[in-house]
Amino acid sequence: MTDTFANDRAHVFHSWSAQGLITPIVVAGAEGSWFWDDEGKRYLDFSSQLVNVNIGHQHPKLIAAIQEQAGKLCTVAPGMATEVRSEAARLIAELAPGDLEMVFFTNGGADANENAIRMARLHTGRTKVLAAYRSYHGATGGTIAMTGDPRRWPGEAGVSGIVHFWGPYTYRSSFHSTTEAEEGERALAHLRDTIMVEGPQYIAAIILEPVVGTNGILVPPAGYLQGVRELCDEFGIVMIADEVMAGFGRCGEWFSVDHWHVTPDLITFAKGVNSGYVPLGGVIISQRIADTFRERQFPGGLTYSGHVLACASAVASINIFREEGIIEQARRLGDEVIAPGLIELQERHPSVGDVRGLGAFWAIELVRDRATREPLVPFNAAGADAAPMAAVANACKAEGLYPFTHFNRMHVVPPLTTSHDDVRHGLEIIDRALKVADDLYTGR
Ligand SMILES: Cc1ncc(COP(=O)(O)O)c(C=O)c1O
Repeated sequence: MTDTFANDRAHVFHSWSAQGLITPIVVAGAEGSWFWDDEGKRYLDFSSQLVNVNIGHQHPKLIAAIQEQAGKLCTVAPGMATEVRSEAARLIAELAPGDLEMVFFTNGGADANENAIRMARLHTGRTKVLAAYRSYHGATGGTIAMTGDPRRWPGEAGVSGIVHFWGPYTYRSSFHSTTEAEEGERALAHLRDTIMVEGPQYIAAIILEPVVGTNGILVPPAGYLQGVRELCDEFGIVMIADEVMAGFGRCGEWFSVDHWHVTPDLITFAKGVNSGYVPLGGVIISQRIADTFRERQFPGGLTYSGHVLACASAVASINIFREEGIIEQARRLGDEVIAPGLIELQERHPSVGDVRGLGAFWAIELVRDRATREPLVPFNAAGADAAPMAAVANACKAEGLYPFTHFNRMHVVPPLTTSHDDVRHGLEIIDRALKVADDLYTGR
């Protein structure tokens, strides 16, 4: 046993884990779309760590930018102005749609959402927040309560004013829809009803992941996001797009809302803004909401808001995106390799009930029966119930592919810079691993 592993087990308290039941991989190094352990076993990173390493591991220009900034100035209080922070904010505002011109920097996604909600409440003078059941917004007090998925259950007590609604999900419609168009319309009608019975004059914000990430890679039907925008306008509600996972190229656009030409009032970001080389997140703020705080103090802040090393890495990352055409790379990866590859997997494997996604953001949904759509494992399965998904994942890991799994799904979310050959190689490994799921298939 290495010291690293022994010290980890003795002293590192890991997120989302029963501490005695985990065996972390000891990561010794990484480059591009690959990382390796202390025994030299290499893994193709089909999860981009936590769907954040969008430009791949150890990009030399990003490392150089952080090193250069560290040599100049490592840290400055948020109240000062400093070159890379100003430039990062300018660049992010330039990328954002419409009149979203100002950036409040945070350390990650959860605190971005916390501050977005605070802005929305103060701007509107209202308190309630609507959030989707199929969502994840972070693990801090307010954001875990906004999160719709079961990670909320142990953490939501004591937070009031958050109401959940169903977003569109055509494969498992909550509205008995049979087409995308029907699903979009019915999901909007349901949201309108929810607003009505909650009292629009009490609703500060609707927060949603425009393309839902961990909870299924749910691409909204055409017109849905425009419909949410219109409802927000009609009732004076702030529209918050949580682009923490879907933004910065993951969906083949700078922001996923760009696909539908929708301008939210606030966008939250983190992860792909700098591929996680240094912690960074933030809120991009529309002029209207920024104006609320022109003469009135914004009551929020963080010691590391706009940390200069993080901002230097964001500036470098955005420039790398532009120089290397990374948005275009993500689109091509999806259109030319992942989409056709997943359709082929669906044709070959009865256990593949649905494949969906866009850009480099895809899901394979595994079922026991295509007719009933019974999931391979139950909702929120754990322990023995989750064993079939763990077996599929382990079959991938044994062959050197590091997968992202959630419930009965495997997500295909490699770095946007992954070569087409590497993605094909990864899909071949998934192809073999799916035999485990096929063996459990009970349909005809
Ligand atoms: C959509 C979304 N919002 C917010 C978060 C929380 O971000 P962080 O873990 O940086 O706090 C995540 C993290 O996975 C996310 O996927």
